[in-house]
Amino acid sequence: MAGPQDLKTLADRAVAEIAASADVAALEAARVRYLGRKDGEVTLATKRIATLPASDKPAYGAAVNEARARIESALESRAAALQHASIDQSLGEREDLTLPGRPVRVGRLHPITATIREVSRVFATMGFETVEGPEIETDYYNFEALNIPPGHPAREKWDTLWVSNPLGDNAERPLLGRTHTSPMQVRVMEQRRPPIRVVVPGRCYRYEATDAIHESILFQYEGLAIDEKLTMADLKGVLYSFARQIFGSKSNVRFRPDYFPFTEPSAEIAFSCVICEGKDAQCRTCGGDGWIEAAGCGMVHPDVLRRVGYDPGQYQGFAFGGGVERLAMVMSGVPDIRLFSQNDLRFLESF
Ligand code: PHE
Repeated sequence: MAGPQDLKTLADRAVAEIAASADVAALEAARVRYLGRKDGEVTLATKRIATLPASDKPAYGAAVNEARARIESALESRAAALQHASIDQSLGEREDLTLPGRPVRVGRLHPITATIREVSRVFATMGFETVEGPEIETDYYNFEALNIPPGHPAREKWDTLWVSNPLGDNAERPLLGRTHTSPMQVRVMEQRRPPIRVVVPGRCYRYEATDAIHESILFQYEGLAIDEKLTMADLKGVLYSFARQIFGSKSNVRFRPDYFPFTEPSAEIAFSCVICEGKDAQCRTCGGDGWIEAAGCGMVHPDVLRRVGYDPGQYQGFAFGGGVERLAMVMSGVPDIRLFSQNDLRFLESF
């Protein structure tokens, strides 16, 4: 029959074991072994008290309590000691301050975004405000309001993606990916009264066989100025100033007669090649002739003005529209338009 003396032996053993616990896990194992609720050795001894004859109970009970108290205080002090040791250890560690930092990857503007901002900035110097319009347009704004009724041959050159109209009446108001930014000429004139000076950058869609200079999704910038007494000379002045601010003081602009249904007269604009300056017959940028066809322009057609309620006798204006990619290609010497949409980081990080 175990007596008080056995409990002292048990406590001695437990205290020694606890003092020797090397880490928190070993300490916890010792706690469970002695004080564990189900079959810890001290717990079992406590349960035994009830089975003893009344005369043995006080001495045995006192021995159990003393054993428990000794073990608990040993657990506590060992836990504190282990904690101090771990703090001391971490204080003793040295940080290696010479380790190079991890580089932060810095993003940058996509070259098309950067070019659009540059175009907007340059036109802003001449009083043009940048506005934007819908990429999905109605047939009316993209074609009809610009003198291109159904069946007009110009529709062929501007075929595009047609979109089903969520409002239903598809035949009446067909929707399409706008083929140019020119519909914004009409939208802006409807919303404002002259004087008007806006530039409209934005994405356009065309049915196009893709090659180094053609893409079916492209960006354009549109310009529109309406006022009293505006002439073709104003148009030329604005575009000369634009070319010189973008390409430098040596650059030149060539105007040649062209045809657009919504301008009269109309012209095609070419910028002199800043890459070869007309001196390299093999030049990849201009094809060797020294000029880069970059935009269309003209005086806004009187019928377009009338359609938005302007009196062509009072107001005239000019419009122009060009490709953003074309500009970016010339400004940065990019040989293939498709590079802009391929998202190759080696290309994008070179700007
Ligand atoms: N929208 C025409 C095109 O995409 C360009 C243009 C704009 C022509 C404005 C005249 C006036 O080809």
